[in-house]
Amino acid sequence: MSPTLLSLLCALFLTLPLGLIFTIHHDPTAAATAATTAATTLISPPPKKVTSHLQQPQPTFLKNVNVSEYEDNDDDNDNDDSSLFHMASRVDPNPSPGAPKKIAFMFLTTGPLPFAPLWELYFTRTRKTGLYNIYIHADPSIRPDLFHGVFSHRTIPSKPTRRHTPSLAAAHRRLLARALLHDPANYMFALVSPSCIPLHSFDFTYETVMNSKKSFIEILENEEGAWRRWAARGEMAMLPEVGFGDFRIGSQFSVLTRQHARVAVNDTRIWSKFRLPCLQKNVHTCYPEESYLPTLLSMVDRIGCVPATLTYVDWEGRHDGHPHTFHEAEVGPELIRALRGRRPRYGDEEINGSDASVTRFTRRNDPFLFARKFGSDTVGALMDIANDVILKD
Ligand SMILES: *[C@@H]1O[C@H](CO)[C@@H](O)[C@H](O)[C@H]1NC(C)=O
Ligand SMILES: *[C@@H]1O[C@H](CO)[C@@H](O)[C@H](O)[C@H]1NC(C)=O
Ligand SMILES: *[C@@H]1O[C@H](CO)[C@@H](O)[C@H](O)[C@H]1NC(C)=O
Repeated sequence: MSPTLLSLLCALFLTLPLGLIFTIHHDPTAAATAATTAATTLISPPPKKVTSHLQQPQPTFLKNVNVSEYEDNDDDNDNDDSSLFHMASRVDPNPSPGAPKKIAFMFLTTGPLPFAPLWELYFTRTRKTGLYNIYIHADPSIRPDLFHGVFSHRTIPSKPTRRHTPSLAAAHRRLLARALLHDPANYMFALVSPSCIPLHSFDFTYETVMNSKKSFIEILENEEGAWRRWAARGEMAMLPEVGFGDFRIGSQFSVLTRQHARVAVNDTRIWSKFRLPCLQKNVHTCYPEESYLPTLLSMVDRIGCVPATLTYVDWEGRHDGHPHTFHEAEVGPELIRALRGRRPRYGDEEINGSDASVTRFTRRNDPFLFARKFGSDTVGALMDIANDVILKD
């Protein structure tokens, strides 16, 4: 066979199945589904009943496709997750009776976890064992053996994520779905970023979130720039499912109840809007991960939410879309104590003195359990104060 004929045949084999995807979805962005990776590891220990859910069989026609070639076209990468979400939405919303409730810690990262040593201490220095599960959504290009200790074999089948696209919100939903299916004892679902550190011991965190029947999720109504974010996909694109009056903004770093995790993976109606790519010219107002869940939960069960995040972040004086990053010189016992002393912002109370949520939440003062963003240069300084400050209640 001549080389030209061979490459022609190869091209044919590669394009045929893709052509098939295009036809089924009538959606030119669907090629992004090809970004499914072959290299992800499975959660370990292997779950008993849900093995088939966790193993994502690689369609044979994608076996040798180089994932990175599709990254540029990855604005809508959740099409082939629909059966995963369908199964996850059918789990029992109540944790298994009798068994101790667990926290699902869901790490959403594109690279290594710089604070793995601190988290290792956090998870191992506890009075009781077996009260948590760890899940990692990592970039598919990351070798799974990069994660050690409590993090080894915790990577779920993941897809590439990029800022200013729905991929970060999609990854969050994927983590929720895997965690729901993996362990019926998962009761609270905390999203954690790689630049995030704990502010308290695991035991303290466990008591705090397990004493709540509500999710902790920032839900802001009157944020500056909300209209531009709502209209980022086109002026009328969110209608009729999400009117501007329904639109909410809040940090992606939430702690959701099992009920709400199930609501999130079951939702197709609201997600059908948030998964749309933003217009190129609006890309800098495109933060679906900071409005999808606040909007959905405020529409579905506002009263079941404490409208605040328990992950501290410092936005003071920042206007470039990036919060303050703490560096080594700033880290010490005083910083940890200062961050522990901060009070979360509840709903719109700081903007609207007369807002009803103020009176409802004036007396609340939930402790920040986590804080971001910390530069990776701070790991040594944090380890120095881990036992005596950070993990000491
Ligand atoms: C995939 O493609 C990218 C860009 O073309 C290249 O840099 C990378 O080495 C390829 N990876 C494999 C495994 O072939
Ligand atoms: C799941 O979605 C369906 C269809 O939108 C809806 O009828 C049902 O009430 C939802 N279930 C939950 C638990 O949210
Ligand atoms: C917040 O305050 C503004 C200006 O005082 C007002 O127009 C708006 O209706 C308030 N929002 C709520 C939810 O009370």
